Amino acid sequence: MRRVPPWPEWLQNPPQVEAGKLVVVLTGAGISAESGLSTFRDSGGLWEKYSIYEVATPDAWQRNPQLVLDFYNERRTQLAQAQPNPGHLLLKELERHYKVIVITQNVDDLHERAGSSYILHLHGELTKARSTADSSLIYEIGYGPIRLGDKCEKGSQLRPHVVWFGEEVPAYAVAERWARKADIFIVVGSSLQVYPAAGLVDEAYRAKRKFLVDPRPTLSYGVEVIAKPASEGMREVVERLLNDGG
Ligand code: APR
Repeated sequence: MRRVPPWPEWLQNPPQVEAGKLVVVLTGAGISAESGLSTFRDSGGLWEKYSIYEVATPDAWQRNPQLVLDFYNERRTQLAQAQPNPGHLLLKELERHYKVIVITQNVDDLHERAGSSYILHLHGELTKARSTADSSLIYEIGYGPIRLGDKCEKGSQLRPHVVWFGEEVPAYAVAERWARKADIFIVVGSSLQVYPAAGLVDEAYRAKRKFLVDPRPTLSYGVEVIAKPASEGMREVVERLLNDGG
């Protein structure tokens, strides 16, 4: 297992942005739905099949770590079979005209595989494991399982590098700083039910345009709603922005 830094490399050298050219995107599980990955709160979603309190809280981990590991191992196996969809790829295409900062609630690596240059995971990453004794010890594990008995270099059990309910969201402060600078803010595929992530929409108070791409939008005030799936909806966002002089 390869040690990885706790923060994305690009934060050391953040992009220089021309005036008016900063797009900040908040993505949720919906952008990965067309890649075959389940969302959480749609019918048939993950939180219908599993209880959050059995697989996604620190207490669940203390009570039954095997069940928690099984939940994330299954999602990692599914992720290995998934591919980025046009929604992810269009965010990469948008980089031809803007600096695009992708702030994602997703723990999948589909934005990475789509080639986005600036990604910040608010809720962690499935393809990484971390020490339970020292949270700065993070390891790249790809799509393989974490097993009971897999240990960090300090000899403590490895856990998914995922933010569980009730845990801190260390990346939020950085995400907030970027949202506050956004000239354009786009939400794709999020029910905006979970804070602090959902609060980023209000932090983007400088944005001259805000878009929400979601077939079942939960927000209508102050955003241009495109009630379509991410692939179609992101195509429309790109067209509107490029017609607007891109
Ligand atoms: N394209 C775009 N949006 C879609 C699509 C699609 N093809 N299919 C579904 N959606 C929308 C749904 O309408 C919904 O608004 O995606 C959203 C998914 O919402 P959630 O399942 O609540 O996922 P998300 O908002 O990412 O959840 C936030 O909650 O459980 C925690 O940590 C977990 O990061 C997750 C957080």
